[in-house]
Amino acid sequence: MPIHPPEPFRIKVVEPIRLVNRAEREEALRQAGYNVFALRAEDVFIDLLTDSGTGAMSHDQWAALLHGDESYAGARSYERLAEAMQQIFGFRHFMPTHQGRAAESILTALLVKEGQYVPSNMHFDTTDANIRARGGRPVNLVIPQASQPTDRHPFKGNMDIQKLRLFIQDVGVENIPVGMITITNNAGGGQPVSMENLRAVAATYREFGIPFFIDACRFAENAYFIKLREPGYQDKNTLEIAHEIFALADGATMSAKKDAIVNIGGFLAMNDDNLYQNACNELILREGFVTYGGLAGRDLDAMAVGLWEGLDEHYLAYRLGQTAYLAGRLLEKGIPIIEPPGGHAVYLDAGRLFPHIPQSDFPGQALAVELYRQGAIRAVEIGSVMFAHPDPETGEMVYPALELVRLAIPRRVYTQSHLDYVVETIASIAERGEAVRGYRFTYAPDLLRHFTARFEPL
Ligand code: F0G
Repeated sequence: MPIHPPEPFRIKVVEPIRLVNRAEREEALRQAGYNVFALRAEDVFIDLLTDSGTGAMSHDQWAALLHGDESYAGARSYERLAEAMQQIFGFRHFMPTHQGRAAESILTALLVKEGQYVPSNMHFDTTDANIRARGGRPVNLVIPQASQPTDRHPFKGNMDIQKLRLFIQDVGVENIPVGMITITNNAGGGQPVSMENLRAVAATYREFGIPFFIDACRFAENAYFIKLREPGYQDKNTLEIAHEIFALADGATMSAKKDAIVNIGGFLAMNDDNLYQNACNELILREGFVTYGGLAGRDLDAMAVGLWEGLDEHYLAYRLGQTAYLAGRLLEKGIPIIEPPGGHAVYLDAGRLFPHIPQSDFPGQALAVELYRQGAIRAVEIGSVMFAHPDPETGEMVYPALELVRLAIPRRVYTQSHLDYVVETIASIAERGEAVRGYRFTYAPDLLRHFTARFEPL
C-alpha cells in the first residue's frame, strides 16, 4: 500500500465552489467581525472549519435514506441502527441523539453535580462547556508530550496515568462522578490513544469505582492508528480493535458527524440499566422518543451504514494518508505543525509561525483570518480564543499551552489538488509572517465564545 493511497472511490455528484476575489474577501471579513464562523459558506473556497457533518455520504448511505422508517416509535430504522451499534460497540443500551453534545448534555445532567470533577485526556470544547454548565470542573490529564509540538510520540493522546491516579486521590472519588477519555484527542491535535493506555485508564477508573465513558467521535481513526502503530495489532482488523476498546468502558458519547460520516446524528450508550432509564427520561424531555432521539428515521439509517464505512480499512488508509500528505507537504515548506499529524486534521502552530504576536493578541485568530484573506480557506482557531479563561480563584487569565489553527479535513470531500492549493496559500502567508498583527475582542460571551465572538485588528 502506498503511503498516500489514492481515493478508494470515484466522484459521482459534484458541488460547485467558487473563489471570490480579494476585495470581496476583505469585505466579508469586516462584516463577519473577523470571526470565520460568521462568514457565508458561499464566500469560502476550501472549507476546513470542521470535519463534523461535512463528509460526503456514499451512494449506499443515500440509498439508505429512502429506507427511512419515520414511525414515531419502534421504527425499523432504529432497529437497523441498534444492530450496527450492537455489532460494533456492544453496549447494553444506546439512544440516538441529534449530535454529540446532546449526548454530553444528558450524561452531565444526570451525573455531574456542582463542584465535581470530570477527568479526561482532554475534553473537547462542548464536553468542557457541558460539564461547566452543570457547575462541574473538566480536568485535562493528557501526557506532557501532547504540548510539545515536535515530539513524535505515536500516541500523543494518551492519558498520564500517574497524574490521573494522584488526581483521584487528591480530590477524592466522591467528587468524581464520571471519568472520560477522548479518542482521538481532538483538542490536543487529533492524536490517538493507545490500547495499552486505554486499558490502564479503564483499570484506574475501575479500581476507584468511577464510571468510564469514552468520547468516541473518531474511534475508527483511533482504531486504525492502533493497528498501524501499536505492537500486536497489525493483524487485527479495526472492528476487532473497536470491540477491544469499548469492552473496557461503561459507556460512550459519540458525534456520528465524524467517523459515521453522516451530516447529523450522535448517540449516548451505556451498560448501566438505571442510568439508561434516567437518560431515557432526559432524552424524551430534550431530544425526542427513545427510538429516534431528535433525528429522522432516515438519519438513523444513514448512520447505521456510515458506522461500517467509517471502519473500512481501505477508506481509513486513504483518510489518514490524506492527512499525512497535507502535513508532509507543509513540513517540506517549513511550516510549523503538530507532529506527527493526527487523523482528521493538521494543526498549524500559530505560536511558532507568529512568535511576535503575544497570546493575549490571539496569534491563532490572526492566522485563521489570514487563511481566509489570502486563499478564502476557512479553518478554526484552537488556542486562546477557544480556551483562555480567568482562573476561578485568582481571576488571572490562564492561557492554553499551544496556539493552534486546525485544518480539519472533511471526509471524502477534497482532492489532493485542493490540499496543494492550501499548502501554497499557507506558504505565502508564512513568507510575510512578521507583517501579520493580532486581534482584540469587541464582543465575547462567557461560554463557547469562539462561535460568536467579534474582533477588530490591532
Ligand atoms: N467530542 C469531540 C471530540 C468533538 O470533536 C466534538 C465535535 C464533540 C464531542 C461534539 O459533537 O458537534 O456533534 O455536538 N467536534 C466538532 C469539531 C464540532 O469541529 O471538532 P457535536
